[in-house]
Amino acid sequence: MKWIEAASYEEMSKLAADLFKAQLKEHKQSVFGMATGGTPEGFYQELVASYQAGEISFAEAISFNLDEYIGVAPENKVSYHYYMDAHLFNHIDMKRENIHVPTGNVADVEKAATDYDAAIEAAGGIDMQLLGIGVNGHIGFNEPGSSFEVGTNIVELTESTREANKIYFDKPEDVPTHAITMGIKTIMQSRKIVLLISGASKQEAYDRLRSGEVTEDFPASALHNHPNVTVIYTGVK
Ligand code: GLP
Repeated sequence: MKWIEAASYEEMSKLAADLFKAQLKEHKQSVFGMATGGTPEGFYQELVASYQAGEISFAEAISFNLDEYIGVAPENKVSYHYYMDAHLFNHIDMKRENIHVPTGNVADVEKAATDYDAAIEAAGGIDMQLLGIGVNGHIGFNEPGSSFEVGTNIVELTESTREANKIYFDKPEDVPTHAITMGIKTIMQSRKIVLLISGASKQEAYDRLRSGEVTEDFPASALHNHPNVTVIYTGVK
């Protein structure tokens, strides 16, 4: 695991975008894994700015997002689908058919989960996966206790995750109880992983990851078993 300390949120975002841009320049058909949340907003701004400046094109790239709330339609403003359109996809040239966000509002969500892993495999696997981290160490929506051996699946969100995410909803009770998420197994199959950690609320998660202990009680610790992870962090001591 490679650790890079950034002097600011802006620098973290830029360093992460540089890695994705380098990947794209090396291989224009790259398959990217995308994440949502407050942390990667600056990263997406950087990618959009580089695209608009004519430095990069996503015309042949493919993307797969990590997760989505169950019961929330893609056009709903609180969906991760909507977030991705607003922060990235509406502003770049990635083809719509190459954009994948798990579907949270279909009758057979279990099938949607297995189909999702099959689609990733059919695309040749993820070349570079972006991750944030939850205050409890979750990656995607893989909460503490998640098996490292499970692919994309349906999970129940913990109270701490629902609490952290309530800022995006009108009422706290509107925060969904379940989500569809790439499993830790899916995430670990990515060839390269870039994890962003930003801000004091992530201090405990940062410390625990830094300790090197590997346990299913702390999902991000699975990353210690991956050969190519870059952690870019800022605002933690
Ligand atoms: C969310 C998402 C994760 C994200 C994490 C941290 O619940 N499912 O993919 O990395 O929590 O979010 P933030 O960056 O807003 O702190």
